[in-house]
Amino acid sequence: MTTTTLTEGAAAANQDTKIRIRQLSKVFQTKTGPFVALDDINLDIPVGCFFMIVGPSGCGKTTLLRILAGLEEHSSGSLEIASPAANRPGNSMVFQGDSLFPWMTVWENAAYGLTMRGLSKGEIKNVVGHYLSRTGLSRFHDYYPHQLSGGMRQRVSIARAFANDPDILLMDEPFSALDEQNKVLLQEELLRIWEETRKTVMFITHSVDEAVTLGDRIMIMTAHPGRSKVMVDVPFERPRSVLELRARPEYGELVYNIWGHLREEVQRARAQDEGRGS
Ligand SMILES: Nc1ncnc2c1ncn2[C@@H]1O[C@H](COP(=O)(O)OP(=O)(O)OP(=O)(O)O)[C@@H](O)[C@H]1O
Ligand SMILES: [Mg+2]
Repeated sequence: MTTTTLTEGAAAANQDTKIRIRQLSKVFQTKTGPFVALDDINLDIPVGCFFMIVGPSGCGKTTLLRILAGLEEHSSGSLEIASPAANRPGNSMVFQGDSLFPWMTVWENAAYGLTMRGLSKGEIKNVVGHYLSRTGLSRFHDYYPHQLSGGMRQRVSIARAFANDPDILLMDEPFSALDEQNKVLLQEELLRIWEETRKTVMFITHSVDEAVTLGDRIMIMTAHPGRSKVMVDVPFERPRSVLELRARPEYGELVYNIWGHLREEVQRARAQDEGRGS
């Protein structure tokens, strides 16, 4: 097999680059032989970029995020992440669906990362109080996850991720299980909070609308094996209002163009699934 290098450190990337990926691949060993999930991924993600990943189901999006989070090793190529400042976590991941601790209150869930890092009670109170307020959850601080709606639980996950003050925020379809109305509200909330911090974000979505609404740059991936097919820059100024943006003709054009690239891949992925199932 080819060599694997993982370098972390400011020297790894030029100053404005947060994440640099070269010829990265991921091969899973399965019962039926090696399975190439990611192939020849090359990326330069600038500091503070809101980077979106769109691609058909099974193309390797979650695998890429898991590699960035250090939860999975890549098989070949290189991954370089500029170091975070001391005493700050490198990344925080917001998973699809429920990732809250059911035995902890909203407050305890949001404070978890800070508590683990041993911050003082006063600091934790300030930071967690701020993000619970920003996500509209202050009143529910002593509720348990089972007492909340799905949208509220996702808000706790977002508050927890931002409170943790990571260098990079990794978000895997955080809003996909929500209804359209809650999704728009949460997208607005996320944009407002992100405006304050301008963290580097990698955000996976199935929704082209969501990619165009939130992102600075969008990577459209191919069906299996997952490669970068097209990179699209989103030209809209910030701060953005989700609904105003959607009313603009340029918005519709961009969504249409991206669908043009994506449609073929979604059809290929479907054909692959049917082939495997037969
Ligand atoms: N641990 C594993 N062992 C073997 N194959 C795996 C493993 N994890 C993922 N895969 C395979 O790798 C491919 C990519 O999976 P991944 O979860 O990254 O896709 P995805 O793009 O996130 O899909 P979705 O949009 O449905 O969430 C899939 O075909 C999956 O079956
Ligand atoms: Mg996934």
